[in-house]
Amino acid sequence: MSYELAFEVERGDFETAGGASRKIKKTLQQLGISSKIIRKVSIAGYEGEMNLAIHSWGGTILLEVAETEIILTIQDSGPGIPDLHLAMTEGWSTAGVEARRMGFGAGMGLPNMDRNADHFEIESKVGNGTKILMKFFL
Ligand SMILES: Nc1ncnc2c1ncn2[C@@H]1O[C@H](COP(=O)(O)OP(=O)(O)OP(=O)(O)O)[C@@H](O)[C@H]1O
Ligand SMILES: [Mg+2]
Repeated sequence: MSYELAFEVERGDFETAGGASRKIKKTLQQLGISSKIIRKVSIAGYEGEMNLAIHSWGGTILLEVAETEIILTIQDSGPGIPDLHLAMTEGWSTAGVEARRMGFGAGMGLPNMDRNADHFEIESKVGNGTKILMKFFL
């Protein structure tokens, strides 16, 4: 059995964003995935969705549920991250005033994704975009 679901996340709509992660959570519940794994996928998916809305020009989230793992692929086409090591550092953020007013900008999203996923890969190129691949083993 394999199941796929894709979501578009638009730039700047972080006041209403969170919809994709909510649907991912619901889908996993309907598929009977354990709550422990749903929790991890939901946290990582939410952080990824918010980063698309806040930092990118918009992007997509792809959810794949296979026999032995759940795969989340989150990608956008810009602006890209100049220094991945810095971006992965807890507390480091370039979030603007508006995002901070909404409670974002703690610089914890990427470290949180890394912590919750069993496998975490990020690649980014300025001018080209960012791609994050996360796996959660069932
Ligand atoms: N998709 C992206 N495109 C461009 N830059 C990004 C993207 N995702 C993250 N970044 C950069 O990496 C930094 C760290 O991201 P991270 O999610 O860890 O923290 P944050 O979004 O700033 O704050 P928080 O997630 O705690 O609300 C961001 O401030 C931003 O500079
Ligand atoms: Mg973030």
